[in-house]
Amino acid sequence: MNSFTRSALDAERSPTRSPAQPIRDPSDRRVSYLRVSVTDRCNYLCSYCAPAEGWTASPRAELLLFEEIFEVIKVMTWRGVNRVRFTGGEPLLRRDLCELITRVNTLPEIKEIALTTNGHLLERMAHSLFEAGARRLNVSLDTFDPDDFRRVTKGGDLARVLCGIAEAQEVGFQDVVLNAVLTPELEQTPARWRQLCEESWQRGVTPRWIEMMPIGGQPAPPITVQQVLGALSEELELRAEGVSCQRSALQRGPARYYEVISGSFRGQRLGLISPMSDPHFCASCNRARLTARGGLRACLADDAEVDLKSPLRAGLNGPALSPFIDEAFSTKKPQHLMAQGAPPLSVMTGLGG
Ligand code: 5AD
Repeated sequence: MNSFTRSALDAERSPTRSPAQPIRDPSDRRVSYLRVSVTDRCNYLCSYCAPAEGWTASPRAELLLFEEIFEVIKVMTWRGVNRVRFTGGEPLLRRDLCELITRVNTLPEIKEIALTTNGHLLERMAHSLFEAGARRLNVSLDTFDPDDFRRVTKGGDLARVLCGIAEAQEVGFQDVVLNAVLTPELEQTPARWRQLCEESWQRGVTPRWIEMMPIGGQPAPPITVQQVLGALSEELELRAEGVSCQRSALQRGPARYYEVISGSFRGQRLGLISPMSDPHFCASCNRARLTARGGLRACLADDAEVDLKSPLRAGLNGPALSPFIDEAFSTKKPQHLMAQGAPPLSVMTGLGG
């Protein structure tokens, strides 16, 4: 790298030369992971995410612009963020997404750029996304039955999503994870969970179940990931992966992974996320969320957010945004109260899960 490039990168690195304080909340958790919703639009309409009634996408002028998103990410990396995940809505609907990833990839603090997508546009975009620097991919996929898939997503095309996943693997994405929400719209039975495992493993991807959260005021059914684990353990010998043997230290998040240790599926893995049933779910939360409209949220399950769009549009940038970031985390609660009947009212789309 020549000296010009290096100094250009250094300039991107930090808004000032002095080291910044990491972001901390009152429970002394640090923030190192930022989820960025780049649009609240989606080409699917899953009921657990965005109920058909009572939700409309924001006017475009209310969504953050490319430079605004980048500025927030830059300041957040200066304050200790080293992983960014792009979400939506459906992030692949944002036209400048690849440019944004390319730019974020120039920030030296960034160790990993990830995406969560429904996969509908993946076949055509996988190559550009990988080239831009995205390395991890989660695909929302609740069922391998094409009719059920169409019903849950309101028109989704399973075959197309599967082609997208295959293409992503082909261009270099490793360890693709499927997010399956335990939605009551699908019959949740051991046979279905087994099918999800087998179909995933045949395609070289890792299935991961997520307990449904009552986002947007919808009732969440009491199906827990322990039920899934209990049923699958009757046929598969599973061993919990310790944090130290997880594939990447950076991967540490709320998911718990299990490995099949005998039989024909030996070596295959599955993941479980238990926001509703695990009372310690929030203990190691390291996340921040930037909404498509420019709100910074300390907790998915708390509608409290600090508006960053107004200060950005008033011309503030760099360290001048820091006080707003600290404000967002100053009221972060030790744990969410969704299981106690205090769900957030916002819908998931625009928050990005
Ligand atoms: N409960 C749990 N997970 C959800 N997701 C969307 N809505 C919900 C919900 N109500 C998940 C989807 C997506 C991720 C971003 O969030 O599986 O992959």
